[in-house]
Amino acid sequence: MATIALYLSLLFALLYTVPSSAQDLPQTPATATYDYVVVGCGIAGLVTAMRLSEDENVSVVCLEAGPFDHYEDSIQIPQFIGHDIGSIYDWNVTTTLQTQLDGATRPIPLGRAVGGGSIINGMVWNRGNQDDYNSWQSLGNPGWAWDDLLPYFKKSETFTPIFYEGVAQQPVTFVPDVHGRDGPVSVSYPNYYWPQTDNWFRALNQLGVATVYDPDEGTAAGGYFLASDIQPNNQTRSDARRTYYDPFFGRRNYNVFPNSHVTRILFGNQNDHVSLHATGVEYAADAASPRQTVLARREVILAAGAIHTPQLLQLSGVGPSALLNSLNIPVAQDLPGVGRNLQDHCLVYVNYPYQNQSLTTPNECNTNATFNDEAANEYRTSKTGPWTAMPSNGVGFPSLQQIMPQIPPATSEDLVSLLSAAQGRENWTAYLPSTYDASLRRGYEVQLSALLPRLSQNITPAYEILNNNAGVLTVSIMHPLSRGTVEITTSDPFPQPAIDPRWASHPLDMATLVAALQFNDALLHTPSLAELQPSFKPAGVPQSPSSAFLRDWINRGIRTEFHYSGTAAMAPLEHGGVVGANLLVYGTTNLRVVDTSVYPLVPGAHLQAVAYAVAEKAADIIKAAREE
Ligand SMILES: Cc1cc2nc3c(=O)[nH]c(=O)nc-3n(C[C@H](O)[C@H](O)[C@H](O)COP(=O)(O)OP(=O)(O)OC[C@H]3O[C@@H](n4cnc5c(N)ncnc54)[C@H](O)[C@@H]3O)c2cc1C
Ligand SMILES: *[C@@H]1O[C@H](CO)[C@@H](O)[C@H](O)[C@H]1NC(C)=O
Ligand SMILES: *[C@@H]1O[C@H](CO)[C@@H](O)[C@H](O)[C@H]1NC(C)=O
Ligand SMILES: *[C@@H]1O[C@H](CO)[C@@H](O)[C@H](O)[C@H]1NC(C)=O
Ligand SMILES: *[C@@H]1O[C@H](CO)[C@@H](O)[C@H](O)[C@H]1NC(C)=O
Ligand SMILES: *[C@@H]1O[C@H](CO)[C@@H](O)[C@H](O)[C@H]1NC(C)=O
Ligand SMILES: *[C@@H]1O[C@H](CO)[C@@H](O)[C@H](O)[C@H]1NC(C)=O
Repeated sequence: MATIALYLSLLFALLYTVPSSAQDLPQTPATATYDYVVVGCGIAGLVTAMRLSEDENVSVVCLEAGPFDHYEDSIQIPQFIGHDIGSIYDWNVTTTLQTQLDGATRPIPLGRAVGGGSIINGMVWNRGNQDDYNSWQSLGNPGWAWDDLLPYFKKSETFTPIFYEGVAQQPVTFVPDVHGRDGPVSVSYPNYYWPQTDNWFRALNQLGVATVYDPDEGTAAGGYFLASDIQPNNQTRSDARRTYYDPFFGRRNYNVFPNSHVTRILFGNQNDHVSLHATGVEYAADAASPRQTVLARREVILAAGAIHTPQLLQLSGVGPSALLNSLNIPVAQDLPGVGRNLQDHCLVYVNYPYQNQSLTTPNECNTNATFNDEAANEYRTSKTGPWTAMPSNGVGFPSLQQIMPQIPPATSEDLVSLLSAAQGRENWTAYLPSTYDASLRRGYEVQLSALLPRLSQNITPAYEILNNNAGVLTVSIMHPLSRGTVEITTSDPFPQPAIDPRWASHPLDMATLVAALQFNDALLHTPSLAELQPSFKPAGVPQSPSSAFLRDWINRGIRTEFHYSGTAAMAPLEHGGVVGANLLVYGTTNLRVVDTSVYPLVPGAHLQAVAYAVAEKAADIIKAAREE
């Protein structure tokens, strides 16, 4: 017996060992068993799988629907940010008709590759404020406050500060204590900034938005240089595949299989009226290929992202029973919160093209071949110059308090009255989708009591201004009150679910966008930005637009900042939660969610640094559960 077992384990080791070239992966065998089955190898999936496989006696497989990338320049060189949206590395899904806007759909770009969103994203790296996480804890999630997450923010990064010579009074500086020194992701700054960034900071400062020297402390609203997930030595993207997979290539118990679209979670014990036990998952290369099965000895861990994780739960019978019944899917666990509480940072792209002829802008890379050739050459030879730079590295995250004095009184009165708890708050659940049940409505009330007081504080950024140094001042809501849904429309796992973000369906979100455009106006009229000769109105906007005109214009412009989250929220069950503070799906013994789906409230930041930190913490929670 012992010899046969040894023989079998050797055979299995051979079969399941990571092959010698990531480009050349074998088919997975028909059925295999691992300790942990991770679904989706984006940021959260790779972090969790890499950490769990640190124990050599634990076997881990991560199944990814998309392919491995091929180290393309379009992925690795910052200049090509945006290039792979709509490519073979994008799911290419769209929203439902946004009737609250202009009735049209919008794209929902989503990474589909080993590395997930980190392969195609904008390389922006920030964390938001301490209270973003203190709110998570106060919503009923012990262990998820800022102080609990800070060690994991640090664990995921190696931070390398750089100092830009000549940025008048605006040094990029940092607080060493809040940064990591030896984590997998390289976090630093591009070796270039556009000189008009100086004008940008001066304009913000003049209007009372101070410069924040190290935003990663999470204590202020203001203007700052955005860091990036970038290798400082060669100015290339430092994404999840290159940081949590490639360096561990050859670790025998860490298996990543691309082209493996998970179609269903398998459960045992379905009829014994006790908790559900996940036994594995079913997957296939595509709709036409045969389904295969992989079994989990210990846990199934969902990391398919905030759109596909709720889709997979619903397909597997875990979700709102009315929805499942309508599709004849047997209800394994009625959980009204699955696919609800969808939050996103909606944004409006606003362009006031700078016309000062003495100015060089990032647009030149697209319009002037000589300039672009020089920039390409400089990048390839010395890793400096415009090709290293994100279009936006000087940004603003103002609070409502900071902008109030600069915007028309009618707008600030509107904001103040919306914010005051006395008026309207009791019926704000009326803005929720009609499908939200009583638990989700209670949960939303609790979210509002955490959020509204913070939105009145000077330290809470209400929105982001993405300054591209050529006249684009895109604005994006950081703490949306609008909530949407992700719902399957068929029991077939391959069509996309109905994604309804319902951006700006809440009047406070819309009022904040109106205020943001008016504050843009004030910024452009400061001497330091006026010097760049912006066109003071975006194309199509008249000199003194009525507020109805502005709202209509905003409605047509709203789209996503790519920060989908909240669709399997960590919250008490009676508040519409889907997972508890240990990330276990309610009613299950061994099914966890570790991706952006679990954020009960979207933090006021781009989400990737958060996705790494949350998954780092998740891995520790799972390791601790094993030792119990
Ligand atoms: C275009 C774009 C730009 C962005 N810009 C920034 C930025 O500049 N800064 C920032 O901080 N954040 C940015 N983000 C957001 C950030 O990248 C995401 O929040 C982050 O990747 C989320 O991590 P995740 O692990 O939850 O999901 P993902 O990284 O999306 O990973 C989910 C993975 O699961 C896979 N998957 C899905 N369904 C299945 C299935 N059924 N079976 C198997 N696999 C499946 C997907 O293919 C994907 O690889 C951007 C996102 C996009 C799309
Ligand atoms: C793995 O198992 C072997 C044999 O039981 C044991 O000697 C070793 O210490 C284990 N490793 C870890 C990291 O637990
Ligand atoms: C997304 O669209 C691009 C361009 O049409 C295509 O090459 C790619 O295969 C599509 N992605 C998926 C997952 O279908
Ligand atoms: C950039 O540098 C890192 C760290 O030295 C290295 O691992 C990576 O291969 C380099 N990438 C490119 C594209 O040169
Ligand atoms: C194009 O770029 C080159 C090199 O920087 C510069 O000399 C030239 O003036 C630019 N042309 C125009 C039309 O701006
Ligand atoms: C909420 O109450 C206010 C004041 O009574 C009213 O004007 C508003 O229309 C109500 N909103 C909704 C969505 O019911
Ligand atoms: C154009 O920009 C230059 C450099 O910033 C500045 O010196 C000049 O005054 C600007 N022109 C106008 C008309 O403001």
